[in-house]
Amino acid sequence: MNNVIINTDIQLGKINKNIYGHFAEHLGRCIYGGIWVGEDSSIANTKGIRNDVLAALIEINIPVLRWPGGCFADEYHWKDGVGPKEGRKRMVNTHWGGVVENNHFGTHEFMLLCELLDCEPYICGNVGSGTVQEMSEWVEYMTFDGESPMADWRRENGREKPWKLKYFGVGNENWGCGGNMRAEYYSDLFRRYQTYVKNYGSNKIYKIACGANSDDYNWTEVLMENAGRMMDGLSMHYYTVPGDWQDKGSAVDFAEDEWFITLKKAYRMDEIITKHSTIMDKYDPQKRVGLIIDEWGTWYNVERGTNPGFLYQQNTLRDALVAGVHFHIFHNHNDRVQMTNIAQTINVLQAMILTEGEKMILTPTYHVFNMYKVHQDAERLAVQSSFGSYEYKGESLPQVSVTASMNNEGKIHISLCNIDPSNQAEIVIELRGLSETIKTVSGTIITAGSMNAHNTFDHPETVKPVSFKDAILDKGELVVHLPAMAVVTLAIES
Ligand code: AHR
Repeated sequence: MNNVIINTDIQLGKINKNIYGHFAEHLGRCIYGGIWVGEDSSIANTKGIRNDVLAALIEINIPVLRWPGGCFADEYHWKDGVGPKEGRKRMVNTHWGGVVENNHFGTHEFMLLCELLDCEPYICGNVGSGTVQEMSEWVEYMTFDGESPMADWRRENGREKPWKLKYFGVGNENWGCGGNMRAEYYSDLFRRYQTYVKNYGSNKIYKIACGANSDDYNWTEVLMENAGRMMDGLSMHYYTVPGDWQDKGSAVDFAEDEWFITLKKAYRMDEIITKHSTIMDKYDPQKRVGLIIDEWGTWYNVERGTNPGFLYQQNTLRDALVAGVHFHIFHNHNDRVQMTNIAQTINVLQAMILTEGEKMILTPTYHVFNMYKVHQDAERLAVQSSFGSYEYKGESLPQVSVTASMNNEGKIHISLCNIDPSNQAEIVIELRGLSETIKTVSGTIITAGSMNAHNTFDHPETVKPVSFKDAILDKGELVVHLPAMAVVTLAIES
C-alpha cells in the first residue's frame, strides 16, 4: 500500500509561477513557422504572430518567456532586428542549421508576443560575441523613458513608451557555445557586463548569470564566490538524454529500457539541484540568489528526414511523465528554484506545440503544463509519503511521486505521477489539518495504452487529459487508483 499524508496546515513557501516558464530560441521552426508567420501569411495572425499558437499558449498561463537563445543569444546582434523589416540585416544562423535569419522577429515583435501572452519577457544578452556597449544599449533601448540615442531610436521605430523588462541574462552557456570560457574568466566578464545593465526609472532588472552545465559544481562555486553578490539569479542547464550525445535515442521508437533510463535521468534533476543549492547556501544562506533552470527537458535524436540542426522531435506519454516528475522536484526546491524554462516552446526539443504549415497539435507535455498551472504561485504543502518501487532489470525508482499545494482561495491541488508502465498504484491520502470536511474531489488524468503514444497531425487527440473519477473519499481519506504510466491532478474543495 502507498500512503501519503498531506499536512494542509504546514505551508512550505510559494511555488513561484515562473517555475512554469518557457524558452523560445531562433532555432529550427520555433520562432519562424512556430510563432512568427508574418503579417502577410495566410495563417491567421496578430501582427505576424500565429493566432492558434497564441490561444494555446494563453491557455497554459505562460508566466515568463526566455528569448532569443540559447546558443543563438551569443551570436545575436539586437540592432539587426529593429527598424523597418525590409532594411533588416540578413545573417546566417551558423549554430542552428546554417539557415538565413532575416531578423523579422526582433525586439518589438518579441515584446508584443509577451504582451499578448501577458507574460514577463526574459531576454538573454550577448557576451560571447557582443560588446558591453551593445548590451548596455539594448537595455537603454527597451527601458529608458527619457531622451537618449537609444530611447529616441525606439520611438522612431514605433514604440513611444519603454517596456517593462525584469529578467535579463548576461550570456548563455558561456562555458560552451557562448565563448568556451572558464568559470574564472566568465565570472569577471559577468561582473563587468552587469555593471552596464542599468535600472532606468522604476524598471528594476533581475540579473541572471550564466550558470553550470548540469553537474559542473565548480562553475557554481566560482561564480558564487566571485560574483554572487552582483547577481539575482544563477542559471543551470540539465537535459534528459536517454542515450549519449552521439545517439540520444528515439523520441517515439523505444521500449522499456529507454523508458526506464529516461525517467531515471529525469529524477537526477533532484540530485543536481540539491548539490548546486548546497554550494549556493554557503555563499548565500539567505537564499537571495535564485537558481534559474532556464533550459531543461528531453533531448532525443531528430525525427527522420528533418534538418539535424533544427532539433525537431516528437513528444510521447514518456515526455508527459518527465514533465510531471520535474515539476515535483522543482516544487520541492521552491526555496531556491525561482524560475525554470522548458526547452523549447514550439517545434524544438520537448515542445508544447508542433506545427506543420497551418496545422498545429498539442503535445502530451503541453497537457501536463495545463494540468499543473493550478500550482502556479500556490503555497506548497508539506507531504510525507511512502511508495513502492518501479523495478526494472535489477534497478529501482520510486514508482509514484506526489506534490500538493493550496491556492489563495484555500483550494488544494494534488498531483501524482506513476512512472511504472505496467502496474497501477493504490494510494491512500490523508489530508491532515483541514478545518472543514472535504466537499468535492475532482480530477484530470493523462495516460494512454502504450508508452510511446503521441499525437500526430492526422490523430491529434491520441493523448489528451480526461476527467479522472478514481479518487474516492472514504472515511475522510482519499483512496486513489492511479493507473500505470499516468499523471493526475486532483482538486479538493472543503
Ligand atoms: O535548447 C537548445 C540548446 O541547448 C540551446 O541553444 C543551448 O543553450 C543548449 O545547449
